[in-house]
Amino acid sequence: MSSTLTILLPSLLALLHYHIGITEAQLDIGVNYGMAGDSLPSPATVVQLFKKYRIQKVRLLEPNSDVLEALEDSGIDVTLGIKNEDLPSIASNATAAERWFNNHVEPYIPVINFQYITAGNEVVPGDLAQYVLPAMQNIQNIINSYEYDGLRVSTVVGTATLGSLDPPSSGAFADEARADMVGIINFLSNTSSPLLVNVYPYFAFASDPNHVRLDYVQFTATSPLVQDGKLSYSNMLDAIVDAFYWAMEKEGVSYVDAVVSESGWPSDGGGLWATPQLAKTYNQHFVKKFLAKQATPKRPDRYLEGFIYTMFNENQKPSGVDQHWGLFYPDGTPVYPLFS
Ligand SMILES: *[C@@H]1O[C@H](CO)[C@@H](O)[C@H](O)[C@H]1NC(C)=O
Ligand SMILES: *[C@@H]1O[C@H](CO)[C@@H](O)[C@H](O)[C@H]1NC(C)=O
Repeated sequence: MSSTLTILLPSLLALLHYHIGITEAQLDIGVNYGMAGDSLPSPATVVQLFKKYRIQKVRLLEPNSDVLEALEDSGIDVTLGIKNEDLPSIASNATAAERWFNNHVEPYIPVINFQYITAGNEVVPGDLAQYVLPAMQNIQNIINSYEYDGLRVSTVVGTATLGSLDPPSSGAFADEARADMVGIINFLSNTSSPLLVNVYPYFAFASDPNHVRLDYVQFTATSPLVQDGKLSYSNMLDAIVDAFYWAMEKEGVSYVDAVVSESGWPSDGGGLWATPQLAKTYNQHFVKKFLAKQATPKRPDRYLEGFIYTMFNENQKPSGVDQHWGLFYPDGTPVYPLFS
């Protein structure tokens, strides 16, 4: 492909999607599906919503047999998490790992396309961090013995694993996370699996709105705002993902991709910046970025995947903004018109 075409194609695709409306395209975007709400629709209804809005990928924090059954034969890719509290037993006991796999994955193998199995959510750094690598290894051993080629094992980390991230080239793991992260990323490198990262420009902005620019966190800047060596950045999400790439490179790991496993913006719940308008702007640009297959300045040729946090407003989360990250109300109506 000529270099002009390589540059033009993503923007043409973006333009195309823009004109035909996002609903017309198969959304190459994932959504987190959490269940901490007392009036959420049945899993079967939720799967109908995924299909209606052409959501192709879903991430579940933990196994739920009703949800997995509803996803059977849906064609939707599933990322399935091992609960944090299950990590110690799965890490130390191959029988417990096999039991987990046989209960929650194996029965669905023919009818669900599992994309990633994730060992824990944001446990590095912390007391459970030591269990992540051995838990991943125990699950990987089972996958190898069954010869399930498409299935990748990983874990989900947040920016707490980074001691430095601004500018992106300063990206490095925090001292208290480093030993565990080095083992984890070497495993991911050996197994050609990505690192899943939760990225929240909202929090960076809301905690320091006088110093962080709104257009930088909302993807609305029209020119680069951060120059980092040869690389220029017009949005914080790219900068944070690249900080992870730099941190991995400093440990000698250059071929592990990042997947944005959570990102989003709250529409309510207190604070000046949690509004439907800002949430809509953020998530619309997020969807467009991933539809256009725009990766990051440091790894422009990589395929970057993204999952919006989250499908529903969940009223059993702590009160405040935590309850208002959903694209949909529990009755299935959109909180704001994202997909039109
Ligand atoms: C390993 O896990 C299995 C299944 O959960 C359990 O029955 C067994 O007692 C565990 N073994 C040890 C040493 O904890
Ligand atoms: C990765 O592979 C290398 C070479 O086979 C091996 O020495 C190392 O132990 C592996 N590391 C992990 C964490 O799997």
